[in-house]
Amino acid sequence: MLCGRTNVNKFLVEEQRRNPALIGDVSMLISDVVRSCKAIGQGVSRGSLAGVLGDEGSRNVQGEVQKKLDVLANQAFLHHCEWGGHLRAMASEEMEDIHPIPAEHPRGNYLLVFDPLDGSSNIDVNLSVGSIFSVLRCPDHASAQPPTAADFLQCGSRQVAAGYAIYGPSTMLVLTVGNGTHGFTLNRDIGEFLLTHPDLAISPDTREFAINASNERFWEPPVQRYVAECLQGKSGVRGKDFNMRWVASMVAEVHRILMRGGVFMYPRDSKDLSKPGRLRLLYEANPMAMIVVQAGGQASTGDERILDVQPTSLHQRVPVILGSRNEVERIERYHREHASGEDQPFRSPLFSTRTLFRDD
Ligand code: AHG
Ligand code: MN
Ligand code: MN
Repeated sequence: MLCGRTNVNKFLVEEQRRNPALIGDVSMLISDVVRSCKAIGQGVSRGSLAGVLGDEGSRNVQGEVQKKLDVLANQAFLHHCEWGGHLRAMASEEMEDIHPIPAEHPRGNYLLVFDPLDGSSNIDVNLSVGSIFSVLRCPDHASAQPPTAADFLQCGSRQVAAGYAIYGPSTMLVLTVGNGTHGFTLNRDIGEFLLTHPDLAISPDTREFAINASNERFWEPPVQRYVAECLQGKSGVRGKDFNMRWVASMVAEVHRILMRGGVFMYPRDSKDLSKPGRLRLLYEANPMAMIVVQAGGQASTGDERILDVQPTSLHQRVPVILGSRNEVERIERYHREHASGEDQPFRSPLFSTRTLFRDD
């Protein structure tokens, strides 16, 4: 039965008692975020019945087609989080500029940045999607002045809290306030997220990787080398077979990794040289990196820890390699070996085994 289960509010109050540095209104802010996620989850679960599927007929600042639910989910975050008095401003994937808290509401000292609907290309085919969020402190110097985009340009290591909701077979909230990563499951009967997965721990080793393999020819050589070795399985240098997954919804991939280990890659590629990766630093990579690191995993660009990357713009993209610690460290080593010329120039197994492509 439900008796004795901890809900998110109780969890946050107890976290605060353990860590007085967590100022009271962080938990109130997270409660507002939780309300946004419940509202979005309800819209997602109703699907066609609520008329919320399909394209909005517009594009976001990044030129991506907006789904109706991208826009509705963005509005849900604004609506639930702007009046509480905890925030100075918000920023999101779906808004070109920051959203300062309107003058009619009290202003607080935090910044909220979010991806209101992640994996939204999956929404029309009824696969898992989610919402991702990150909480930052507003820099002190800005407290008397109107907020600016520059206030958001803080390293991920300065996040106060991060989390995601996944709208899957069950709706779950995964949260960190810097003391481990914890999972809650929505009990729809009482409308509460209840602690079901305390102290999530990512296994350091794995036999599962996730990458969009259709981009193989655009990847950097260290990633080509890593994936080729996984595909060689038992007969290659890894000496074991690997399994591959790709949901095209980062929330779902990270959730799987938290549950059973694995490595997720959306690496730097040469498809469009103006974009050093697909995923956005502030509202995708940073919160997921904090969640994964707090669960004992690693998160890297291949060259540096994601949490150490100094942001330079609100919608900046970054390469992402995260999950089981030993695999991420191996991929980082492949990057170092490639940079120093220690590894052999990579030859795709496809091209070296087919006589059609041989140049001899
Ligand atoms: P969003 O729906 O917020 O734009 O994010 C989608 C992201 C991420 O969730 C996923 O890993 C990746 O894009 C999928 O990209 P591909 O379609 O290139 O596989
Ligand atoms: Mn996304
Ligand atoms: Mn999105």
